[in-house]
Amino acid sequence: MDPIRIAVALTNMKPESWLAPLQAAFRQRGIAAQFELFNGKPIGARYAIVWQPPAELFARERKLQAIFNVGAGVEGLLALAGLPLDVPVLRLVDAGMAPKMAEYVSFFVARITRGLDRFGGPQALRDWEVDRPRGVLPGIGVMGLGAIGAHIARVLLMTGYPVLGWSRTPKELPGLESFAGAANLKAFLGRANILVNVLPLTYATRDLLNRERFAWLPAHAWVINVGRGGTIVDADLIAALDSGQLAGAVLDVFREEPLPAAHPFWHHDRIIVTPHLSGPTPREPAALQIVEAVERLEAGVAPELLPGFVERARGY
Ligand SMILES: NC(=O)c1ccc[n+]([C@@H]2O[C@H](COP(=O)([O-])OP(=O)(O)OC[C@H]3O[C@@H](n4cnc5c(N)ncnc54)[C@H](OP(=O)(O)O)[C@@H]3O)[C@@H](O)[C@H]2O)c1
Repeated sequence: MDPIRIAVALTNMKPESWLAPLQAAFRQRGIAAQFELFNGKPIGARYAIVWQPPAELFARERKLQAIFNVGAGVEGLLALAGLPLDVPVLRLVDAGMAPKMAEYVSFFVARITRGLDRFGGPQALRDWEVDRPRGVLPGIGVMGLGAIGAHIARVLLMTGYPVLGWSRTPKELPGLESFAGAANLKAFLGRANILVNVLPLTYATRDLLNRERFAWLPAHAWVINVGRGGTIVDADLIAALDSGQLAGAVLDVFREEPLPAAHPFWHHDRIIVTPHLSGPTPREPAALQIVEAVERLEAGVAPELLPGFVERARGY
């Protein structure tokens, strides 16, 4: 049997470094596949593995049966002019990103709630009698309870925090207080002393965290954004920090990336900026998830039944 042809178009992701893990995963599952880095010439690919691909890929490759997005967020791909409407899009589901993002969030939650940045560095406090917070733990609100948000919520619950979650549909997660839908957003935000955004960016979540929503948070709340920058209205975040309504923000994702050098987020003393590093995509688990999906598609399973199938109408 001829090998399955697979076009690889990974922008800003060192595409060559993906070939060996992909080849190994397919070999391991006994599927003959030929991978080609997309260079503008069509190869008659049956599948495409992409991250921020050029629109030209879809004009050239007309026989695609599925497109694999090497990441969890698909807003960029779905917005791409020329993305064929009739080819299913699949995204990664966790694939090793969730534990790293939970670690990132837990690190900052500990830093915020226990004042851990008082220690270390040349100005370290040399005071044995420092305040040790012993009061009731603050409520943490996790927006988005998908593969990644639910994992973050579980890890925070394990460390003893009261965790509230907000999603489109109600969730049952032991110990978590679930809020669902726009009608319950105000009640959810009202108890989130630390708000963690892990929502996908869609027509419904763009600009969701604006002046009005920041005012719904308890006074002196913190915001941690690991979802997408477009969910936060930048100027409203800065205004909420400057008025004291918010105590601080930890931002890993931005409307424009890389965050422009002149952007006020870089210079605000109560904003911590990290350069979109909370959830890197580990190659081996990602390759495994792709080969498992290809195996099932080749066996005739409908793409809608596979994990990570993107429902285009809802945008995630
Ligand atoms: N910073 C990083 O390095 C990094 C890395 C990976 C991912 N991300 C971001 O994290 C996002 C989430 O990834 P994931 O794999 O957890 O996604 P997912 O499994 O698709 O989960 C999305 C969650 O958001 C909820 N949601 C979507 N639209 C909503 C709305 N309008 N109102 C309320 N809830 C809504 C969904 O609710 P239902 O469960 O009810 O459908 C679901 O719980 C990605 O889209 C990406 O943008 C960032």
